[in-house]
Amino acid sequence: MKIIGIEHIGIAVDDLTKEGKFWNLILGLNRIHTEEVLEQGVITDIYDGRNAKIELLQSMYPNSPISNFIEKRGKGIHHICLKVDNIQQAIDELKEKKIKLIGEDYYIGAEGFKVIFIHPSSTGGVLLELAEEKD
Ligand code: CO
Repeated sequence: MKIIGIEHIGIAVDDLTKEGKFWNLILGLNRIHTEEVLEQGVITDIYDGRNAKIELLQSMYPNSPISNFIEKRGKGIHHICLKVDNIQQAIDELKEKKIKLIGEDYYIGAEGFKVIFIHPSSTGGVLLELAEEKD
């Protein structure tokens, strides 16, 4: 498995417009993308953090993963995403090493990335996303 770098940090918010003001107006980061990821029940605003993106995540409906996360742990850092060169290879390797993945296969996430999440129980408490850029 080859990790290329940090792709983004995912942050759970309850209001994209309100929370986005800090990242945009105070820190001066540009919003580069907005997308609904139906698979995750989430709307995301992505900011250019220069060497890694900041992904604000707002739930689209009750009981979505982000909605449940905010209910349990409050707003704040939800996950860290590492970019890999080959996600299928990474998944095969992690399964072989008995690392707990969320779901069996990758799916298409924001910006067309192929993504999968590693369960926090395997990482010391961090929800970790792996992502391979689309060709
Ligand atoms: Co993410």
